[in-house]
Amino acid sequence: MSIRIDRLVTAGTFSLDGGTWDVENNVWIVGDDAECVIIDPAHDPAAVAAAVAGRKVTAILLTHGHDDHIRAVGEVRTAVNAPVYLNREDWMLWERVFPGTEPDRDIADGDTFDVGGATLVALHTPGHSPGSVCFLLAGEGTESDSTVFSGDTLFQGGPGATGRSFSDFPTIIESIRNRLLPLPGDTVVRTGHGDPTTIGAESPHLEEWIARGH
Ligand SMILES: [Fe+2]
Repeated sequence: MSIRIDRLVTAGTFSLDGGTWDVENNVWIVGDDAECVIIDPAHDPAAVAAAVAGRKVTAILLTHGHDDHIRAVGEVRTAVNAPVYLNREDWMLWERVFPGTEPDRDIADGDTFDVGGATLVALHTPGHSPGSVCFLLAGEGTESDSTVFSGDTLFQGGPGATGRSFSDFPTIIESIRNRLLPLPGDTVVRTGHGDPTTIGAESPHLEEWIARGH
């Protein structure tokens, strides 16, 4: 497909339950030369705007409501004039970052987002947070160009963190087992933090993750 996927790595902090940690986030920009969507425009609005490079932004898609993923969204939304989508079950996390405001739209399981001749499909994958969502970009004709933007649900090496508030380990395991691991093995997993992986590289390890409990 002619779709273009840009990865931008930005740095900042994540705060929850009274702690603050330094983090690097992946910002994914998906589209063609005319238009794009932005997935999780974290930390650095100027860098995100530079990566958009004047294209029309049709949507800002949020994988979940943790503050490292959304704190820069207000500025990015103003800069690119696009609606912000977040699953409603994470709006209580949005409220903590932007009190008295709401995202522009909900994301329901199965919602689709067309961009640059391709289609992203939302997969509701709760566990890291109640409203965590992955976005599947299915390939055209071949499996090898399929990719899933996994947010903090699945990383290289296992599930996203479930040790803090609003997370649940059995729930993330069921999301990964039922929604992500059935995807073709060569589906590229583009994560919210760190390097990409594939479904095939991760799926043999499900039982190890369950045994270790994280
Ligand atoms: Fe997170």
